[in-house]
Amino acid sequence: ASSTEVDVSAIEPGQAIKAVFRKQPLFVRRLTPAEVQAANAAPVSSLRDPETLEERTKEGHADMLVTMGVCTHLGCVPLGAAEGEVKGEFGGYFCPCHGSHYDTAGRIRKGPAPTNLEVPEYEFTSDTVIQVG
Ligand code: FES
Repeated sequence: ASSTEVDVSAIEPGQAIKAVFRKQPLFVRRLTPAEVQAANAAPVSSLRDPETLEERTKEGHADMLVTMGVCTHLGCVPLGAAEGEVKGEFGGYFCPCHGSHYDTAGRIRKGPAPTNLEVPEYEFTSDTVIQVG
């Protein structure tokens, strides 16, 4: 299995980039302080797929959200990673295929998707580079 390196240094707070990991879309997003706050304010125990932002990010990098760009319902590519795209009712990602809304931690909040956007195996190899896979 191959891994993918992504330089995250140019991603500004509030921006995301799309990359490719194992032929599938990968989203890397730097959250604004307000987006981190929104993610931490969610009632975790009542979520469909209960996970904290902390559990979905790396220590010291709580503002860097790395997820697959694949809706967990039927596999469409959600909107919200590119400039100007709608982010859905919870400010993260929105899958237009059947209306799944993901929050700023990439967690499913509304719509048919059963689970959060998958966080792939990855690590920071420096402050500005992640290696996925
Ligand atoms: Fe995303 Fe159905 S594939 S909501």
